Amino acid sequence: MVSYKELGLVNTREMFAKAIKGGYAIPAFNFNNMEQLQAIIKASAETKSPVILQVSKGARNYANQTLLRYMAQGAVEYAKELGWEHPQIVLHLDHGDSFELCKSCVDFGFSSVMIDASHLPYEENIALTKKVVDYAHQYDVTVEAELGVLAGVEDEVSSAVSHYTKPEEVVDFATRTGCDSLAISIGTSHGAYKFTPEQCTRDPKTGKLVPPPLAFDVLDAIMEQLPGFPIVLHGSSSVPQEYVDMINQYGGKLPDAVGIPEEQLRKAAKSAVCKINIDSDSRLAFTAAVRKVFAEKPGEFDPRKYCGPARDLMEELYKHKIINVLGSNGKAE
Ligand code: G3H
Ligand code: 13P
Ligand code: ZN
Repeated sequence: MVSYKELGLVNTREMFAKAIKGGYAIPAFNFNNMEQLQAIIKASAETKSPVILQVSKGARNYANQTLLRYMAQGAVEYAKELGWEHPQIVLHLDHGDSFELCKSCVDFGFSSVMIDASHLPYEENIALTKKVVDYAHQYDVTVEAELGVLAGVEDEVSSAVSHYTKPEEVVDFATRTGCDSLAISIGTSHGAYKFTPEQCTRDPKTGKLVPPPLAFDVLDAIMEQLPGFPIVLHGSSSVPQEYVDMINQYGGKLPDAVGIPEEQLRKAAKSAVCKINIDSDSRLAFTAAVRKVFAEKPGEFDPRKYCGPARDLMEELYKHKIINVLGSNGKAE
């Protein structure tokens, strides 16, 4: 048993309370490798932003859980070395799909876990979430749950249809499970294809796809039912056109990729939405930078020469999200 407190990590409780009060959101960035982690920590340290390092089940399998734990501990030390005196870093399990996986993460030094039982019938979602909460809270590990189902298909996280969260269920769900935060479905989805072209309109000037707005009426109704309760938005990448264009220019093929417009995320961040999940944008930045090097320097075979530029572009992206979208800069001085 390793306590996250020994690793210098924090849970989400205080962080979320402050974010709701302050009208900003905490970035939750997924990581699978060293370059992503370095970029996240550099961006967070430089902007003094609290940050959630997210590890999916797939990432855990890819990177090895022991290595990940030491990487998170290393991240805290690295942040200090960069001059961030009191780093506020959470190590969070993203989309935990079983009690056993959540327990293993709690036992292994994670400070926060998500149990995603949103695909199960309501009562089963409650029972499994409560089981995880009862275990995690013994160790002061915070728990994110999900109610409502996101659309989209992405690797191990998938669901065919979108079912918005039902505001009339949230009080019963939060009370009976004891969860610390609630991920909701209001029209976001995972991956780089959040809407089909048919669901979008076209900007007559640029010809680009304009996605439909998020269901802010559903968010408002949820906040009315659960005043001050921490709300989480998954699937919140914006799929920046510049990265998509770069990927396509340098031999990639991402036709009609579309994400959530940043102004909608800015609006959400000012509400009780206090955790915003971003993974795909980082994947796009990484891929765009690597493709550019491969296309321009076909003789290059030193991974540092293409992972380095990828890391720089991701750092720029993370800083932009922190400062211009979530508003979490300067909140962890
Ligand atoms: O929400 C899903 C995250 O983007 C993680 O994706 O399961 O492919 O690691 P992954
Ligand atoms: P994106 O695919 O929009 O980046 O969402 C990531 C996410 O929700 C991780 O849990
Ligand atoms: Zn997610």
